[in-house]
Amino acid sequence: MAAAEALSAIGIAHLELREPPLDGSFGASDRPPFAPAIRSAFNGVLILNSDYDFDRARTDVASGGADAIAFGRPFIANPDLPTRFAKGQTLAEDNFGTWFTQGEEGYIDYEPLQRNE
Ligand SMILES: Cc1cc2nc3c(=O)[nH]c(=O)nc-3n(C[C@H](O)[C@H](O)[C@H](O)COP(=O)(O)O)c2cc1C
Repeated sequence: MAAAEALSAIGIAHLELREPPLDGSFGASDRPPFAPAIRSAFNGVLILNSDYDFDRARTDVASGGADAIAFGRPFIANPDLPTRFAKGQTLAEDNFGTWFTQGEEGYIDYEPLQRNE
């Protein structure tokens, strides 16, 4: 929290906070969310991340808990993620087996939906 206050005081434009929830699927927290305290301490744009789906993202932005949400795994598996959200389309699952590998597989080979899907 002190760090967020200090960054706010020197005019840092935005913070992105990765905070896995208690039931997180990519790491899990052992305490209630700290993001609200950061929100109060930091005056710039706050971007939250980890285990968000579209509904949870909309809820947190609409409630003022965040200015924006960053998506990691959903964006890896869905290169057209904003379009899928906008159209309510099904999301592809990311493949854990290709995480942090060195080649193209698992990074640039997920297909966008066809225009008429
Ligand atoms: C394969 C993979 C690569 C990632 N690479 C980075 C990275 O280079 N820098 C970074 O800050 N986070 C990286 N992340 C973490 C994501 O940005 C994000 O914080 C994490 O996946 C949790 O968000 P999510 O629940 O939306 O996936 C990576 C995650 C995955 C699965």
